[in-house]
Amino acid sequence: MNKKSSIWFGGDYNPEQWEKDVWNKDMRLFRQAYINTATINVFSWALLEPKEGEYNFTLLDEIVDTLTKNQMNFIMATSTAALPAWLCRQYPEVTRVDYTGKKKKFGGRHNHCPNSEKFRERASALVKQIAKRYANHPNLVAWHVSNEYGGNCYCENCEKAFRQWLKKKYGSIDVLNRAWNTNFWGHTFYDFDEIVVPNALADGMSCEKAVFGGLSLDYRRFQSQSLLDNYKMERDMIRKYDSHTPITTNLMGAFKDLDYFEWGKEMDVISWDSYPKLDTPYAYTSMMHDLMRGLKEGKPFLLMEQTPNQQNWQPNNSLKRPGVMALQSMQAMAHGADSILYFQLRQSKNGCEKFHGAVISHEGSAEGRIYRETAKLGEELLDLQEIKGTKIKAEVGILFDWDSWWGIDMNVGPSNRLDYVKEVYRYYEPLNHRNVAIDLVGKDQDFSKYKILILPLTYICDQELTAKLEQFVRDGGIFVTNVMSGMADKNDNIYLGGYPGLWRDLCGIKVDEIDALFPDHFAKVDLLGKKVKGEILAALILNRDAQPIGVYESEFYAGTPAVCEHSFGLGQSVYVGTLLDDQGMSVLTDYLLEKAQISQRVIENVEIVTRENTEYRYVFYMNHSDETKKINNKLVLGPYETKIVKEKK
Ligand code: GLA
Ligand code: ZN
Repeated sequence: MNKKSSIWFGGDYNPEQWEKDVWNKDMRLFRQAYINTATINVFSWALLEPKEGEYNFTLLDEIVDTLTKNQMNFIMATSTAALPAWLCRQYPEVTRVDYTGKKKKFGGRHNHCPNSEKFRERASALVKQIAKRYANHPNLVAWHVSNEYGGNCYCENCEKAFRQWLKKKYGSIDVLNRAWNTNFWGHTFYDFDEIVVPNALADGMSCEKAVFGGLSLDYRRFQSQSLLDNYKMERDMIRKYDSHTPITTNLMGAFKDLDYFEWGKEMDVISWDSYPKLDTPYAYTSMMHDLMRGLKEGKPFLLMEQTPNQQNWQPNNSLKRPGVMALQSMQAMAHGADSILYFQLRQSKNGCEKFHGAVISHEGSAEGRIYRETAKLGEELLDLQEIKGTKIKAEVGILFDWDSWWGIDMNVGPSNRLDYVKEVYRYYEPLNHRNVAIDLVGKDQDFSKYKILILPLTYICDQELTAKLEQFVRDGGIFVTNVMSGMADKNDNIYLGGYPGLWRDLCGIKVDEIDALFPDHFAKVDLLGKKVKGEILAALILNRDAQPIGVYESEFYAGTPAVCEHSFGLGQSVYVGTLLDDQGMSVLTDYLLEKAQISQRVIENVEIVTRENTEYRYVFYMNHSDETKKINNKLVLGPYETKIVKEKK
């Protein structure tokens, strides 16, 4: 018998798509590759409940028994992410109406209406059967609710539920009218029943844009919460029968539809599906891991899915180069993952995922490249078990805020080129490049542990966040924010008196106008004596008390401040009026790190991340390039190689 690592290694496994002789072959191959965990039952509702209220667990029992006999852990999914055909035929309300107003039929997956009573009733009845049957099974290690929740529904049930949600939130229609400022374009409502969902048939201008920010923001919040309510319903059902096994659902990184900070509060452990492309910068993948870790304030997470070699859903599904799968697995671990799981263990022979890579390919033997790389990694994980549960300590926090993401995207003007996630990355990348540890932080979380707190494009804010920021700076923190931040309340009403609204005192400036620059048009900036550029937007700052550290050198606003610094209590704030190019970000990042006395270390394409516990530090050195890298006299990394150095504290 091979040794079994406490790090879960394996992934999605769909034996119901195969004959039994294939299962036996799989078990042998799993064992040889040190695979110890299978996520099962992700899409089996139709098999488990062939007719309403009639259940058949014969096949799932056999799957569980086979895994158990082979000493495999299993993560039990609840199967509610793909609706059975009979359910859609009997109760058409369970399927969605899309943004264009089209009613969906049976087909696809991840597409139930979250406000369908019938869906909720049948889903919770199914989950009850599954939970009763498999709770307390010795090989069960986690529950996996549904799969990749997401999307919006615009059906009549959602519309009715939305009106109720609004009534509860605003109390009266007058309060709502004031909150949304509905006198604009004569939208005054006299009754909650007049409110319609903001899709293409109504007040949505295109999927991203909104006539009424307040309405569209509330609809996004409502849909995110509706799906979260579905998650909670299943979670609570499982908890009735199983008091202790962790319950999760697989998230998707920077995924716009769901406010994952709200979701994180309800999940026992975060799990997520990481699918970088061949040309995804490694720092972007790191940012996604840090975001997922941030949802539960630094608690280690599960890498629930990654492809061993290639996806099928991108325009060009390149293979991961030799060594890259292992490198990306180590990268996930370095940033806080306590498992390495794949989609999937055996490649489907049909369906739209037949060309999605898997540990066991269509070829099917142990000879394939990716199988061999997997087996090698499986063996290496045996030596890394003590890293499980260790934490990452960061002195820099970057706020990630779904409200601001939605708000920015809904805006009509000032520029269509604004991309919230890219703007967060603009701040993340140079810090990651300098191997500075970063937390992605939610607005409800504790800021006091950071020396630097960055709020890029934080368009939506309120008094509560403002008070927290003021406290942070008063106590000595360095607060960095930029154009389009601090501008609007939760209903998209702009704070008057100059941007950044509630943060004017904190930043010691006020902004009068914002220029939008064409794609080939840059604003020249002198930043701390260096010639850099600003792109996309340029704020025209009316300086009050702050110290300009960057000045525009072109346009009609040449000579006016572009970047300002301001002392507030024991700390300082930095307002960046434009979106600085790479060189500008580099100058700014060095300046901030020096100010905060945070050390940096740049080795081109080498990422250094530390996980630690009270006794030891585990320093991951990861070579993201195909060249050999010399770190010091003792440490050399081959192409795509990771080495972990254990240091006593
Ligand atoms: C998602 C899903 C899986 C599978 C993979 C393919 O992550 O959860 O079921 O479709 O994508 O990449
Ligand atoms: Zn609906």
